[in-house]
Amino acid sequence: MDSHIELQEELLQLISSLRRFIQFEKDTKGHCPGMFLRGDVAHHSTTFEEIHEDDEISYDTAVTLDDVRRELGDCRRCGLYQGRKNIVFGEGNHTAELVFVGEAPGQQEDIQGNPFVGRAGQLLTRIIEAMGLARKDVYICNILKCRPPGNRNPKPDEISVCEPFLIKQLEIIQPKVICALGTFAARTLLKTDVPISLLRGKFHLYQGIKLMPTYHPAYLLRNPGAKKQVWEDVQMIMKELKEGIGSRDSG
Ligand code: URA
Repeated sequence: MDSHIELQEELLQLISSLRRFIQFEKDTKGHCPGMFLRGDVAHHSTTFEEIHEDDEISYDTAVTLDDVRRELGDCRRCGLYQGRKNIVFGEGNHTAELVFVGEAPGQQEDIQGNPFVGRAGQLLTRIIEAMGLARKDVYICNILKCRPPGNRNPKPDEISVCEPFLIKQLEIIQPKVICALGTFAARTLLKTDVPISLLRGKFHLYQGIKLMPTYHPAYLLRNPGAKKQVWEDVQMIMKELKEGIGSRDSG
């Protein structure tokens, strides 16, 4: 290609990327228009009540997310069950190409039983929309399925009993990309102590799946300046997803 045309194309790409960033900045401003109500995002959300407890399924043979949810049951594997209102299993598209993994449910999530529905969740929704997607297109879940009291950090024993269920969820969904939101998700999935600031900005591999760590939306609420980095990270995800269009069975 003629170098003049190449330069022109590069410039056009730069302008379009800048436009999308400005739009992203706008979209993620003033993100508190009221809470999601349970049911607003009810697509494929699996609640315990929807599943028959007497259908005994072994964890190892679970082939659907409903099987995994059934196996989790009315979980009492760690002490968190004592303070929880609801188990927050995860929700979204069971064949999603993109899965977001957060840390643990907060107060709103515990009340509503769905992941990322509080203030940080509303910001995550805007980030997803800025990517040209909707919440129903992706799958959203957490390292822990129950809220730690007062939103304290997850403890190692809680992670170790809960993580197998997340591993199974990811194994069943087989997404093209996982986006780990924040330190806990990134460190737990990648089995590393490296800080999120050094992990983000590049793809890592989780069981052969591309994993992009980025800052947690709750961190963005406190540090809006970090939106630039998150935008860079999600652009890399968008590029990765676009490259695979048509190569994956949408079933
Ligand atoms: N923060 C998380 O990490 N997960 C949620 O579901 C909500 C807030």
